[in-house]
Amino acid sequence: MTLSLLSGSAHPQLGQAIGEILGVMPTVCEVERFPDGELQVKAGPLHDGDVYIVQPIGPPVNDHMVELLLLIDACRRESAGRITAVIPYLGYARQDRRTASGQSVAAQVFARAITSSGADRVIVVDPHTPAVESLFDVPVEMLTAVPVLARALEKHIGEDTVIVAPDLGAVKLAEHYGSFLGKTVVIVRKTRHSGSEVSVDEVVGDVAGRTVVIVDDMISTGATIRAAASAVLERGALPDLVVAATHGLLVRTNSEDPVFPKVQRMLITDSVAAKPTPEVPLEVVSIAPLLADGIDRLHNRRLLVDLAMRR
Ligand code: R5P
Repeated sequence: MTLSLLSGSAHPQLGQAIGEILGVMPTVCEVERFPDGELQVKAGPLHDGDVYIVQPIGPPVNDHMVELLLLIDACRRESAGRITAVIPYLGYARQDRRTASGQSVAAQVFARAITSSGADRVIVVDPHTPAVESLFDVPVEMLTAVPVLARALEKHIGEDTVIVAPDLGAVKLAEHYGSFLGKTVVIVRKTRHSGSEVSVDEVVGDVAGRTVVIVDDMISTGATIRAAASAVLERGALPDLVVAATHGLLVRTNSEDPVFPKVQRMLITDSVAAKPTPEVPLEVVSIAPLLADGIDRLHNRRLLVDLAMRR
């Protein structure tokens, strides 16, 4: 089967970068929006190809999700031989369980939709939780950007640096950074009050007189990072805070860009088409080589185990 690379409208630059590494020019799919908001996509011709559709589910999340479902379906109807949804940022993964009665489990709803649209396999990068794997009825390859971000962090850390997990969900990720960089991990316990409000309950570990790197899977409004930053500074951390996160959504709340007053440097990847925020020196590390490697290995039926996230 011939390898075909398709790019949705969410992040054509990433599709292009992956294609350049693989030596395969990506097809940017046609997406038309009808006056009532419906999307119509066009993919193909594909005939029996091994198709990889690159579409992160970043903002606007609902549009990008619907577009992905339509693209998978279009490829299936064009008789693609095998369809892999390459979803560098898996939106809705945070809703993997109910935290209050009356809620849905949106991560499962969309995992089922991706599968029933016709995806044979899914590639994601640092999903919010490895538990998303069990929500899909098809194989899920969970890659990690920790090694590429950790290498970029090396020039920003010193002897005394500690890695901070800004909530309990980030502990495994922080431990991965910690073992990669040879640093100890400090844990912040947070409580979320709403989509954009969090508070810190406790900091477990010593940050006094230490330089701090806060790591997370994603930054959305920035509330989690701001709360963790304030908590470690109150406990005596040195002021030059560094933040690293795989997915820099950096969404606006109340029409304002997210602000990070105490952060000296922020490292993110290009998993979504993020816009730079003027308040923080931003360093964007590309995961195109990681995704290209993953696609190449799947196409040639080789293992991805050394690219995978820690569970
Ligand atoms: C939550 O559990 C995630 O790992 C992130 O910490 C969180 O989603 C980031 O969102 P925000 O930037 O809005 O606090």
